[in-house]
Amino acid sequence: MSKILLAGGAGYIGSHTAVELLEAGYEVVIADNYSNSCPESIKRVEKITGKQVQAYEVDVKDKDKLSVIFKENKIDAVIHFAGLKAVGESVEKPVLYYRNNIDTTLTLLECMNEYGVKNIIFSSSATVYGEENPVPYTEEMKRGTCTNPYGWTKVMMEQILEDAAKADKDMSVVLLRYFNPIGAHESGIMGEDPQGIPNNLMPYVAQVAVGRRDHLTIFGKDYPTPDGTCRRDYIHVVDLAKGHVKAIDFVFKNKGVEVFNLGTGTPYSVTEIVTTFQKENDIEIKVEYGDRRAGDLPESYANADKALNVLGWKTEKNLADMCRDLWRWQSNNPYGYNQK
Ligand code: WQD
Repeated sequence: MSKILLAGGAGYIGSHTAVELLEAGYEVVIADNYSNSCPESIKRVEKITGKQVQAYEVDVKDKDKLSVIFKENKIDAVIHFAGLKAVGESVEKPVLYYRNNIDTTLTLLECMNEYGVKNIIFSSSATVYGEENPVPYTEEMKRGTCTNPYGWTKVMMEQILEDAAKADKDMSVVLLRYFNPIGAHESGIMGEDPQGIPNNLMPYVAQVAVGRRDHLTIFGKDYPTPDGTCRRDYIHVVDLAKGHVKAIDFVFKNKGVEVFNLGTGTPYSVTEIVTTFQKENDIEIKVEYGDRRAGDLPESYANADKALNVLGWKTEKNLADMCRDLWRWQSNNPYGYNQK
């Protein structure tokens, strides 16, 4: 049975991926420093699957501690979720973002090299398409100009991984470019648990719904889109997690670098998101309109053909599922994993 190391596996996408890997028969080891997550998410993974997860409290930048995991386990592949991801914070603290995100990647690659681990899947982002590429994005487009340091760290990490694979022909690297993951596990016991004021749309909507925030501010209504609000490719986090299982099967059978968009291919506007959330959950979301947020593009959505053709993966859940599952999680756990 293959053993997969999830670096940053206690977080939102990592925990959902752990469930899908365990259910597909893989063994899972998690390394996380809980800087933006908590051990409770791993307990929920175990509860959902009825299987055990080996977890190490480790900062992935700490090579001595990370090496222990490779020493104690025969790791067959790594999925690299570990990283800071708040766009606004990255503008204020660029050095922190470059140091953290680049260092985690280099440290993982050094350990993999020392212990002969050849397979890695990386959590990249649609943000690497930058400002100049037209939608829908296809994988062969050149990486573009990012509007913030967080985005640049993703660009740089993709480059580092490509160079590592170029130098070692036995390596297999898959870069997964996520679009906008939302929703939660349908059990209602696992979901996104942002610390502080949420940066992203859906967690904010959910916190307004549960009464933790007064209203949602929609950032801009004068974009060149059908209703004037930005459009994004929202993808259910469980569909996204299943994409990782397909990617794991793929890395074991291939060498070199392959890039896949993980999105639905269908964009929705901010207004459509709010309307659907209200309708599906029969809850009113108070909305105000504000200025555009710096760095936001009018539209971002995938051409998802390659993942279908090569991995045999496509999304199964629709926007209504995303809204209902998010609300089940948020209403059961108003304060996330650390109930007040
Ligand atoms: C979606 C839409 C906002 C909040 C970013 C990163 C990406 C990925 C996900 C991080 C936009 C609007 C939002 C609010 C609003 N990485 N909005 N009011 O900006 O597409 O993507 O997060 O982990 O790499 O770039 O996602 O959810 O922040 O915004 O009107 O209070 O919702 O303007 O149009 P985004 P988002």
